[in-house]
Amino acid sequence: MTKWTHRHVIDLSNFSLEDYRSVLELANRFNSIPKTGARKLPALQGRLVTNLFFEPSTRTRSSFELAARNLSADVQNFSINTSSQSKGESAIDTAFTYVAMGADVLVVRHSCAGIPEQLAKALENKGISTAVLNAGDGLHSHPSQGLLDLFTLANYFNPGNPVPESLAKKEIVIVGDILHSRVARSNIWALTGCGANVTLCGPESLLPEDFSSFINSPPPGQEIDPIQKRGNIKIIRSLKESLQDADAVMTLRLQKERMQQNLLTDLNSYYLEYGITHECLKWCKQRIPVLHPGPVNRGIEMSSALLNDKSITLIDKQVKNGIPVRMALLYLLTSIESMDKINNFRH
Ligand code: NCD
Repeated sequence: MTKWTHRHVIDLSNFSLEDYRSVLELANRFNSIPKTGARKLPALQGRLVTNLFFEPSTRTRSSFELAARNLSADVQNFSINTSSQSKGESAIDTAFTYVAMGADVLVVRHSCAGIPEQLAKALENKGISTAVLNAGDGLHSHPSQGLLDLFTLANYFNPGNPVPESLAKKEIVIVGDILHSRVARSNIWALTGCGANVTLCGPESLLPEDFSSFINSPPPGQEIDPIQKRGNIKIIRSLKESLQDADAVMTLRLQKERMQQNLLTDLNSYYLEYGITHECLKWCKQRIPVLHPGPVNRGIEMSSALLNDKSITLIDKQVKNGIPVRMALLYLLTSIESMDKINNFRH
């Protein structure tokens, strides 16, 4: 495995092919640990992972908790409802309270884009080695979801050997509320980074025309793109047309809580135009899998019958794969931190 250099994971725009390879390879190893007998690895014994969720979460928080416990870390959970946030404390000040308690990794979710990055900078300015792992910030980024989707697709195309090259030249369609989706943004970076071509599909109100220029070269804030040749990204408005050459389709929840105004007048017509059903999968040239990051609105993003059809959807696999992928991220972030500590000790 090549050297991992990230002290924090904020988004995937700065991931190289080797970074994707490291995560996929480690996740694959963690995934093949027998599920019987001693399930815990000692890797993070004595480490403290703090889940700071300033926004509700079902699967991401629980998945990070299991991942940390599987590596024998101690886990602390912060919940917005019972915290001093209601007394006016800022998110950054709350985070520093947990740093003072000894957190080695802060897993942070916040409704405002930029909070995890701001926190990472504040920690670095103070010379504190606590790592920040973004668990979703506003519309910006959800890197662990992007990576677990990548792992799920890489395993689908290349069972048992989910290398980044498994995605090369694959045609992946992402449908729905792309404008408000941090999952779509992270998937676009990850998929194009591994050479897949991404087609975005949705109505103009949820997918503005200029979204195809989302992948700038170089990525925002960086001098060069760490990926030499990204896959393409394009917009197709018609679901039928977008699915014809697809190798996989991912559909997204309509994120009403992140919409500034009511962008859809009629959910039923949205479903008729963009809802994924068994019938519309017949437009594809081949049998393709359907992904969704969850939570799903039955009968809006996809039909209830399709959601129940485990022979087509990879949704349970996505949830399951979240654990080894998050174990890989926690492992990588704490191993770089240990190297820092050893180096500082020597100086
Ligand atoms: C997503 C999120 O929170 O961004 N869910 C998740 O983490 N699995 C997607 C969503 O909220 O629709």
